[in-house]
Amino acid sequence: MKEGSSPVDEVSSSADEKDGAVDEVSSSADEKRMPVKGLGEIHPDVARVLFTEEDIRARILSLGAQISADYAGEEILLVAVLRGAVLFIADIARAIDVSVELDFMAVSSYGFSAKSSGVVRILKDLDDPIEDRNVLVVEDILDTGLTLKYLLKNLASRHPRSLEVVTLLQKQVEQKVPISCKYVGFEVPDEFVVGYGLDYAEKYRNLPYVGVLKPEVYG
Ligand code: IMP
Repeated sequence: MKEGSSPVDEVSSSADEKDGAVDEVSSSADEKRMPVKGLGEIHPDVARVLFTEEDIRARILSLGAQISADYAGEEILLVAVLRGAVLFIADIARAIDVSVELDFMAVSSYGFSAKSSGVVRILKDLDDPIEDRNVLVVEDILDTGLTLKYLLKNLASRHPRSLEVVTLLQKQVEQKVPISCKYVGFEVPDEFVVGYGLDYAEKYRNLPYVGVLKPEVYG
């Protein structure tokens, strides 16, 4: 993410203020129609943007403050579920001001379909034991809850001191398995969303915003 950028920055830095290579890239008139990074130029496969880069940054700062207060004086092991949560863990870790360590798990989820299979397999396990540690699972999106349900049961059997979940997004669907998720970034409608780590067939993870994928792309 580009720190310190704002709509004003983007507008005032256009066209004639630039020189050299940057000038060549930004001198087109179209550049002036791109005032907000992540909003001005939407990927053609994205129907609409739900949360801009700025929205995400602000929400993560506030989640980080809440987590820091709840775990004051403690240490946290942040466990991200690969690959979708990688961008989120990088940002939430920097928004938390108590001591954190990072570890990663990979589980099978949707593959190349847009529907949850309910079949969960551990593809990569944690590197270190979690017994007597404060584990905070970092998820990109909570949809049916099937994946997380399996993961939490598995992690709980390793006897952590505490086990909680922070998810960037939670779909407004009736979860097949109710999950208690302590920290939720945003609620999203029951549509397929991409960006900020979320993919469809491994694409769109690098979009700086979260948007709804056009149904014809996966339909
Ligand atoms: P669940 O088991 O249905 O809760 O699905 C969890 C996983 O499915 C998430 O961690 C994502 O990897 C993926 N997923 C669910 N919904 C979406 C979506 O709208 N866009 C991209 N990935 C999704």
